Amino acid sequence: MRRWFQTSLVVAALVTLTALTAACGEPEPVALPSAERSDAADGPRTGSQIFASTCAACHGAAGEGTENWMIRDEDGRLPPPPLNGEGHTWHHSDGVLYGIVSEGGLGLGFGSNMPGFKEELSRDEIIAVIEYVKTWWEGKEIDGVAITEHQAEFSTADPYPQTEN
Ligand code: HEC
Repeated sequence: MRRWFQTSLVVAALVTLTALTAACGEPEPVALPSAERSDAADGPRTGSQIFASTCAACHGAAGEGTENWMIRDEDGRLPPPPLNGEGHTWHHSDGVLYGIVSEGGLGLGFGSNMPGFKEELSRDEIIAVIEYVKTWWEGKEIDGVAITEHQAEFSTADPYPQTEN
């Protein structure tokens, strides 16, 4: 019950935020709120706070992504996909997910509107936000196996990097 209540609070806050930041169908350079990083009086930011400030504008408040996320735009680029377990994000190991968030799509060598966040987020923050994304995968299954289990298996061979890179 308590968990449910906390989740609804977070969801309510995120929904408001998305409404404010509007849809990201036409990706434009997003003003990334790096100022919030120095605002660390209350300790490190949680994955949920990082997601809300840094990722939700494109991926949606609850990681729901863009409706037609599989359809490329006129530049051949894909819109922000869902990260909530409805797409294929869980096919990626922790190492790959880290690379995507750190380097961005272009950094990894594919034409993409996914920015890289290595200048803005520390290793711990990147891991925190990915772990937060994974909480949306709980309870979702493919062929009777939890997607979190599949993903954990991929990650044993390719975990998060040991050090900041
Ligand atoms: C400017 C919009 C934008 C922002 C901000 C953004 N993303 Fe993305 N993201 C994208 C797009 C577009 C893609 C699809 C890239 C592609 O496949 O070409 C993507 C892809 C991804 C993927 C790969 C998903 C998959 O299923 O393969 C992950 C993981 C991801 N983003 C996480 C994040 C996280 C975490 C943040 C915040 C730290 C973030 N993104 C911020 C636009 C954005």
